[in-house]
Order: sequence, then C-alpha cells, then structure tokens
Amino acid sequence: MGTLQGKIALVTGGSRGIGRVTALRLAKEGATVAVHYGNNASAAKEVVDAIASNGGAAFAVCADLSAQGGVEALFTALDRELRARTGDIRFDILVNNAGIWVRGAIEEVTEDVFDRLFQVNVKAPFFITQKTAARLRDGGRIINVSSTAGRIGYPEMVVYGATKGAVEAVTRSLANHFGARGITVNSVTPGATDTGMNLSLRDPVIGAAVSANTALKRIGRPDDIAGVIAFLASDDARWITGTRVDASGGLKI
Ligand SMILES: NC(=O)c1ccc[n+]([C@@H]2O[C@H](COP(=O)([O-])OP(=O)(O)OC[C@H]3O[C@@H](n4cnc5c(N)ncnc54)[C@H](OP(=O)(O)O)[C@@H]3O)[C@@H](O)[C@H]2O)c1
Repeated sequence: MGTLQGKIALVTGGSRGIGRVTALRLAKEGATVAVHYGNNASAAKEVVDAIASNGGAAFAVCADLSAQGGVEALFTALDRELRARTGDIRFDILVNNAGIWVRGAIEEVTEDVFDRLFQVNVKAPFFITQKTAARLRDGGRIINVSSTAGRIGYPEMVVYGATKGAVEAVTRSLANHFGARGITVNSVTPGATDTGMNLSLRDPVIGAAVSANTALKRIGRPDDIAGVIAFLASDDARWITGTRVDASGGLKI
C-alpha cells in the first residue's frame, strides 16, 4: 500500500522533466494524478498512459500559464475531470512545478522576459494556490518547486533567481495562513537537474564543472527531486511546513 493511497494530486508541468517523474511517483504511491501541461499534449498523454499501465489513475489537464486566463482554464478543466471521477472538486496535494528558465544578466533582460518569468514562475502558481485553497482538503499539501537560483547569486540568472526567491517568500506566508487547517506548505529547491530545461548540462565540460561544484559530485536526476516531493506529500512529513528543502546534492554549499 502506497503512502498516498486515496489522495488526489495536481502536478503542474507534469508532462516533462521533474513534473513528469513526480506525477509517476505520486501515482506509484497510490494518488490519482492530474497531469497538467501547457503545450505538449503528447508528452502529457505518455505520462497518463504510463501511470495507467502501472495500474494507477491519472488524467491530463491543459492550460497555458503564460496567458491571461490560463489559471481559470486550468480549474475549468480540473473541476470538470474531478467531478466526472469523484462527484466533487476537492483534492489533497498541489505541486506547483511548471516553470520556465531564461538566462540573462541585468543588461540583457527585457521587460518582456521579466514579465514572462514572473507570470509563469510566480503569478501563475500564486493564483493556482489561491484557487486551490477552497478545493484542498484539510490536512492537504502544497509543494512549490523553487530553485537553488533563489539562494545562489548567479549574475546571469538575476530574474529567474528573483522569481524563485518570491516563491519561497510566498511559501512561508502561506504556511502560516493554512497551518490551522493542517495544510503544510513547503518549497523544494532542485539544483542542476537533467531535464529539457537544462540540456547544457549534457555538455561534458559544463556537466563536469557543475558536478565539481556539487557536494555529491554529479548532476541531479528528476527522480532525486520527485522522491523529496513524494515525502513532503506524505503523512510522515506532517510536521514540516514553511521550509525550503534543498534537493541539490549540495550545490555550491
Ligand atoms: N532542471 C533544472 O535544472 C531545475 C533546477 C532548479 C529548479 N527547476 C525548476 O523545476 C521545475 C520543473 O523544471 P524542469 O526542469 O522539469 O522543466 P522542463 O523539463 O522544461 O518542464 C517544464 C514543465 O513546465 C510546463 N510549462 C512550461 N511553461 C508553461 C506554460 N507557459 N504553461 C503551462 N505549462 C508550462 C511544461 O509543459 P509543456 O510540456 O506542455 O511545455 C513542462 O511540463 C521548474 O519550476 C524549474 O524552475 C529546474
């Protein structure tokens, strides 16, 4: 019996990378998973099919979180799918994982890039959480995927790092806000992780340089992060809230 039997989880950006492996892991623990995606319907379908073929339950929901109305669209689809399956719109676990990364030092950053990063990485998860509040069962879990870029002062990630710093500040405020309902709110900070977002890590020179700066001397894998998220989602993590779990293998410590 998995640790999340009977629970329902929404994983944003569940189609690829860290979100994909998180969706698979939560399903393996027994949760029914709403696999959100933005553009990549075939990738989301592959995740849903993989979960089903392992005996789990999942469905896909589409919403472009860079667009006005994206959060509304997400909940229209989610409510419809949940009602059809359970007769209710409530769920138990929110993983705010969808995110984008745009490189740029302060001289290179345009207002468009700044707005896009804040829209997808901060504004969308903020309003997803706002809409989740009435739907999340007491004792639920909110897990925000941040980044070590929120603690390391990378000059070429000035805006991306700022978005993740914002996510961590929101995490702390919401831990206090939702605590009386037994809902925990935490952030997980991956370091350099091998996904489509970070393909440069597959360059042997870049990969070796990043590994050298990492205490555990390798690049992260999505399952390194998914296991931490699954733990935070479980009952064993009920006394952890308002914290940032650094899942980076010790990057630049
Ligand atoms: N990889 C790393 O090294 C690393 C390090 C630290 C933190 N992180 C964080 O980890 C999280 C996941 O990153 P990842 O590496 O797994 O990225 P990824 O492989 O690029 O996957 C990104 C996911 O987010 C979704 N997404 C992106 N833009 C979206 C939009 N406008 N609307 C809706 N969905 C959108 C994508 O959906 P589609 O498939 O439909 O496009 C995809 O499922 C992000 O928050 C990222 O900041 C990653």
